[in-house]
Amino acid sequence: MAIPRDFVQDLCGRIDIEDVISSYVDLKRAGRNVKGLCPFHNEKTPSFTVFPDTKSFYCFGCNASGDAISFIMRIENLAYVEAVKLLADRVGMAMPDEGYDDSLAKLRVRILNANRDAARFYYSLLREEKGRPGLEYYRKRRLSDEIITHFGLGYAPDEWQALYNHLRSLGYNDNELLQANLVRKSQKTGRLYDNFRNRVMFPIMDYRGNVIAFSGRRINEEDNPKYVNTADTPVFKKGDGVFALNFAKNSGTKQLILAEGQMDVIAFHEFGFTNAIATLGTALTKEQANLISRYADELLICYDNDEAGRKATARALQILGETGMKLKVVNMEGGKDADEILRTHGKEKVNSLIKGSENEIEYRIGKELERYNVLTDDGKLKFLSAAAQILAECTPMEREIYSQKLANEFNISKDAFDSQIKSVEYQVRKRKREEKARAETRRMTDSFSDENNPERTRNLRAAKAEETLIASLMRNPDFLAKIKDKFTPEDFVTEFNKRVIKELIGLIEGGYSTSVSMFNEGFTSKEINSIVRISRLSEMTANTVRECEDCIAVIKDEKTKNHNDIENMNDEEFLRLFKKK
Ligand code: GTP
Ligand code: MN
Repeated sequence: MAIPRDFVQDLCGRIDIEDVISSYVDLKRAGRNVKGLCPFHNEKTPSFTVFPDTKSFYCFGCNASGDAISFIMRIENLAYVEAVKLLADRVGMAMPDEGYDDSLAKLRVRILNANRDAARFYYSLLREEKGRPGLEYYRKRRLSDEIITHFGLGYAPDEWQALYNHLRSLGYNDNELLQANLVRKSQKTGRLYDNFRNRVMFPIMDYRGNVIAFSGRRINEEDNPKYVNTADTPVFKKGDGVFALNFAKNSGTKQLILAEGQMDVIAFHEFGFTNAIATLGTALTKEQANLISRYADELLICYDNDEAGRKATARALQILGETGMKLKVVNMEGGKDADEILRTHGKEKVNSLIKGSENEIEYRIGKELERYNVLTDDGKLKFLSAAAQILAECTPMEREIYSQKLANEFNISKDAFDSQIKSVEYQVRKRKREEKARAETRRMTDSFSDENNPERTRNLRAAKAEETLIASLMRNPDFLAKIKDKFTPEDFVTEFNKRVIKELIGLIEGGYSTSVSMFNEGFTSKEINSIVRISRLSEMTANTVRECEDCIAVIKDEKTKNHNDIENMNDEEFLRLFKKK
């Protein structure tokens, strides 16, 4: 059962979307609408727009859109029922007691509790005989008791059902433990067994301090793999977690340190660098980059001093470059990684490495320097033209500084080097212009594909008609009575739009509001994006019964037609087809 529609409608009537969003985003008025910096991607000029009249939002930068409920779901990472609950609290409405499906919300709470209890179990074992191997490992790595407690580190014993039995005794059931990925099911015997065995355990927390996952490191170097991490669960997605961000975001600085491994982060914190974080698993994702950029203006990349670390640095620079954070690469000399450097050379060494850290330009020029043998004229020439390429993309100030530096170092005339940069600049500009044009075309064609409705591009004519009909009915629910006997949802060609029209008819016939918010229950917050997009079409169309009838005719026509010709079209042909309409 769902939350009663009356309740949601009542709630949405009372919510002031501008008020809700302004708790998260600094909004400024711009005519009828309000604008701010988008919380879902990093930007410097506001493209996140709130439309108080339709109680919706849209970001022109990243296309995120939705209503108050989906905004809360997204920004707080909550399930539908939890978001409704949060908003109801806000406007002082009591939730209806029962009869709605909050099973997912309940499961998430159970998983978070199970994780917390598991973390306590792993931690308390360190003080028992059974936990000796774990404690010895931490001693060997020279972790202090304080830091073990601070991070809530623990140990998973070398047994098949230690955690399982413990959590069962606390009242958790098999399904909850499986869904939390704390235990796994044997394919052969069907028995459940602990996911983490004979490993030192690092709890991963979200920014609210919930334990959302674990990372377990082997203590016997012959065990494989080196790390076992929690798989995807209802409270955790691989590639989302950032280790120690919950601490680092409160470290009082907007400059964060990105380390390669969890052990490095722990060492950093132990030595007073409480602004250190790491991703889980080495490959940094876009999601992690965005999350980090919410808390940092500047990021010091302190990856390991080996080939893998350098490769990871190059890739991280690429992904992080899109966030607008200031980036610096710290050359971690004096040991294989931060952990080793800190423990052998101490804090001052790392401080001086950070002081000598290279900004992105220096780092890239340094990389070019390594590629060529600048003792030969040929090598020198190649290096300097590579450096000119890099400087051609920089600001005039940066260019001035580095061209002077390089001219001095290589004993060449600065004027000659500057004119070399100038001539490259023209090519760089041209390339950038072309890239931009390509990106724009891509964006335009993209707007004709919709990940929620994969059939859309192949059935563009039908989908457009379906969407116009939906938009028109959302705005003019009274039209339904006039066209009701002319079509059924089954006439719709694309499945997604079929679901939307079914829900919409239900709302209209039940006498409910047809605002986007009313769709939240049957659709994911991602799908709500598409519904917002569709609803906005009504601003560009006629909004007449006649138009609705035309749409129905097109839909029926397309339904019976053979689509082969359309299927064979390319993007450009699609575009033209649309422009004609
Ligand atoms: P130490 O070698 O004990 O200093 O650990 P470390 O944390 O420095 O690990 P390392 O530098 O080898 O790897 C960096 C990070 O990559 C680790 O912290 C893990 O997050 C991740 N990682 C390493 N090995 C594995 C693995 O086998 N599986 C997974 N999922 N992640 C791994
Ligand atoms: Mn390491």
